[in-house]
Amino acid sequence: MVYLDHAATTPMLPEAIDALTAALAVVGNPSSIHSAGQQAKRLLEESREQIAATLGADGIEIVFTGNGTEAVNLAIKGLWWQRHTAAGVVAGAAEAPVARRRILMPAGEHHATIDTVEWLVAHEGAEVVELPIDEVGRVRLDVLADELDRDAASVALVTMLWANNEVGTIEPVEEAARMTARAGVPLHVDAIAAYGQVPIDFHGIRRATDAPRGAGLVALSVSAHKIGGPAGIGALVLDRSAAVEPLIHGGGQQRKVRSGTQDVAAAVSFAAAAKVTASRLGDDAARMSALRDRLVAGVAATVPDARLSGDVGPGASVRLPGNAHFSFPGCEGDSLLFLLDAAGVAVSTGSACQAGVPEPSHVLMAMGRSEADARGALRITIGHSSTDADVDAFLSALPAAHALAAKAGLAARATSFDR
Ligand SMILES: Cc1ncc(COP(=O)(O)O)c(C=O)c1O
Repeated sequence: MVYLDHAATTPMLPEAIDALTAALAVVGNPSSIHSAGQQAKRLLEESREQIAATLGADGIEIVFTGNGTEAVNLAIKGLWWQRHTAAGVVAGAAEAPVARRRILMPAGEHHATIDTVEWLVAHEGAEVVELPIDEVGRVRLDVLADELDRDAASVALVTMLWANNEVGTIEPVEEAARMTARAGVPLHVDAIAAYGQVPIDFHGIRRATDAPRGAGLVALSVSAHKIGGPAGIGALVLDRSAAVEPLIHGGGQQRKVRSGTQDVAAAVSFAAAAKVTASRLGDDAARMSALRDRLVAGVAATVPDARLSGDVGPGASVRLPGNAHFSFPGCEGDSLLFLLDAAGVAVSTGSACQAGVPEPSHVLMAMGRSEADARGALRITIGHSSTDADVDAFLSALPAAHALAAKAGLAARATSFDR
């Protein structure tokens, strides 16, 4: 199998597998007082420090979660409840005052964010302000600035991606952090797609943007399985000055923000992956973008009407190094995916299925693309284990898959025309 879906999940690094299997044998609850517990705690805290170091944060600011989705939920719901309640709303009151009800969120976010915000709107009286994105998928900062200028006092939080997981566009995080710092509003960044691909410096951004306590960049989500660590563990980087309402109550672990016995083995393995990934970030990014550029050129040569989505540069800081994302006119992305899979090549459409029914990508739609373009999307993502041979295999499987998918697309259009 040629695996080119590293944005969905990337193979575990050998170092992370070794660390996990060794740590599984460790006995002791890290909250226990005895020496076995303290030994487990030492491993856990060393892991926290190692992960923090790769993010420009301190160990104390790392809150382990079950995955990236939980980190995003904790940041958004936790900040919303904290800020909304702190604004004078009595929990359970029928009518909430207008203060701090607004959540500013760009269009084209991951469903972990969209569905969390929609839940707060449906159940908690939040109001969402959807910030438009431009034709490459980048948030319109002028609209963010307008919204903050208009009424910063009613904003509970701002949330945005570091990089778009579908089209790979890198977002203007530092500028947004500066605006929110100035406006006194907390910013959460979903860095799950960006972590391990581009440098992230949490404190560096707080310093550069003169962030006051509790405002500017205060929370950042990451996930281990996207960087060669195990599935089942993520983390929220939570600035010391930021308070969130916990979603899980219990033994008071992790600054009382996320109770529950911590998974030492997963944390140790996550840390091993973080360390290796950080140590070769620049080299891997250069290697991955060279492979990606060859793949993009190969697609342009075989299917000239394929359209590359997202920011095409120039410059390394505009797009994730491993991301290639195309729309194939006249084809369904899902047909291409199945045909390529049958040829032994794993890729993605990049967008979610709802109950097994393929949906047009909401990211492409928000970028102003047609529904046909959004349905014909294919995301090919390169990772740490990708090779030239993988790119060659994709490029040699593509023409036949494309011809069949285009034929199926034509037939489907003819049938719907007949009806
Ligand atoms: C940008 C982004 N946010 C959130 C998630 C969810 O992370 P997890 O799979 O760890 O729950 C993903 C995973 O695809 C992602 O790419």
